[in-house]
Amino acid sequence: MTGAAGFVGSHLVEALRESGDEVVALDCFTDYYDPARKEENASGFEVLRLDLARDPLEPALDGVDGVFHLAGQPGVRASFGAGFGVYLERNLLATQRLFEACAARGLRVAFASSSSVYGDAEAYPTAEDTPPRPISPYGITKLACEHLVRATRVDAVSLRYFTVFGPRQRPDMAFARVVAALAEGRPFEVYGDGAQSRDFTYVADIVAATRLALAAGERGAVYNVGGGAETTLAEAIAILERHADRRLDLVHRPAAAGDVRRTAADTTRIRAELGWRPRVSLEDGLAAEWRWAEGRVGAR
Ligand code: UGA
Repeated sequence: MTGAAGFVGSHLVEALRESGDEVVALDCFTDYYDPARKEENASGFEVLRLDLARDPLEPALDGVDGVFHLAGQPGVRASFGAGFGVYLERNLLATQRLFEACAARGLRVAFASSSSVYGDAEAYPTAEDTPPRPISPYGITKLACEHLVRATRVDAVSLRYFTVFGPRQRPDMAFARVVAALAEGRPFEVYGDGAQSRDFTYVADIVAATRLALAAGERGAVYNVGGGAETTLAEAIAILERHADRRLDLVHRPAAAGDVRRTAADTTRIRAELGWRPRVSLEDGLAAEWRWAEGRVGAR
């Protein structure tokens, strides 16, 4: 698995190991956010340091039955300007090298794509065959990686994750910042009016979908993975304030470039073909994320 020390990756490693699977966990501990957080995520298992864009990949693929490709440069808002080169290297180049190596070995891949490929979509809820029109450079790199599946002829399935949340969420993401702000009594900066909405998806549901996709997804298929309850940022903040039993101090900032107004996944395909459905509600998932944040602050 690539990106094994990340937010989603570390949950996926744990779930696989709990089922008795052996996992080769790869990560290159980039500093997009504090690598100490990744060390913390991966404290229960061994991680092999590997840079997919530069290092030889063959040794890491020896003896492997399938590949979960979760590594990448994430984040919509940082992908503009000078930062874009890093997205090209860590998303496109890294994925091209991995896909070619996997194609040569006949290895099957489940690839972590993103709802950001849709941009401000033509229709909601958005089905996989809606024309993708990303509005962030990040979304463009994820869409290009999906196209690399065809070009490299790798046996792969792409999963379009919709704003994943839960314990260990990436520290640049909205809820991770909200729970940290609530736990530490700091203000939270809202980009725009707070009425932007997302089809937030709990990390355990993402893990389940990703495992099913590798095991049974149709070759070359793309699947939306969305929690099923589109919610505004303001509504989610209100839920977290309730869990924390305190008010959040909000500071308003201009809307961020690349930010879509809303996302909503049509999950008909993954339900029908893989029998997947989301199991954790926003309410319960946010309670778990709050408990995690509270525990982290308390442990310091
Ligand atoms: C998230 C991930 O960060 C991307 O890596 C992923 O590709 C994408 O989901 C996806 O669905 O594919 P985003 O939806 O922007 O992107 O998720 P958040 O970072 O949690 O942001 C949610 C909303 O809160 C956005 O409108 C954002 O502008 C806002 N926000 C975020 C704030 O108002 N303040 C902040 O400090 C952070």
